[in-house]
Amino acid sequence: MTKKRAFLLSMEGIEGTGKSTHCRILSRFLKRQGYKVCIFREPGSSSVGEKIREILLHGKNELTAFCETLLFVAAREQLVTQKLKKNLYTKDVIILDRYIDATLAYQGYGAGVDVRLIKQLNKAAVGKLVPDLTILLDVCPKTGISRSGRGDRFEKRNLAFHGKVRNGYLRLAKKDKKRIKVIATDTSIENVEEKIQQIIHNRLGCKNKI
Ligand code: TYD
Repeated sequence: MTKKRAFLLSMEGIEGTGKSTHCRILSRFLKRQGYKVCIFREPGSSSVGEKIREILLHGKNELTAFCETLLFVAAREQLVTQKLKKNLYTKDVIILDRYIDATLAYQGYGAGVDVRLIKQLNKAAVGKLVPDLTILLDVCPKTGISRSGRGDRFEKRNLAFHGKVRNGYLRLAKKDKKRIKVIATDTSIENVEEKIQQIIHNRLGCKNKI
């Protein structure tokens, strides 16, 4: 019997929603259920991707929004080709700490790059490997920024920018209700964790209960 390809789950949201923490918690939870899981972060998780991450997040040079877009998509293509495809039939679940929607929200809705063009670039980079499920962790930008490190190029941008990114994400979620599930993160970590696990449980079933 041929193995099914891994379930692709992306985790998205503005700064300070606890995405990376929830990716780790979820990975541990799924592993306990017997699933083979790996996490990739964007930009990064490939050697070139990590170098691009350095330029994008901590580089001193000024980048135009379109240049940023191309770099994020370039890092994505490397990740998909070098890592994601290689794990597609050996893992059950691949968690993506940011993916295609981040460029639409940040560079598209946030920085004004043509959203249709970003969709085309994303398609060229990932092909059919769109997420089966996207968890959008939502918080108001003021709270999110106060929780974030405020260290990198994007965290340093003003509230108006983060407001546009958030609205962009919510707009994407409204257009694709089946794939993108929104969870408010103005409650405790445990509460958010429970909601994420409930959504995943509904989609995957629970191995040790089968
Ligand atoms: P990271 O530290 O991974 O995110 P977080 O602070 O949420 O844990 O930093 C990634 C940054 O890059 C984040 O500010 C969002 C931004 N970004 C984009 O602007 N476009 C993209 O396509 C991606 C993947 C990330």
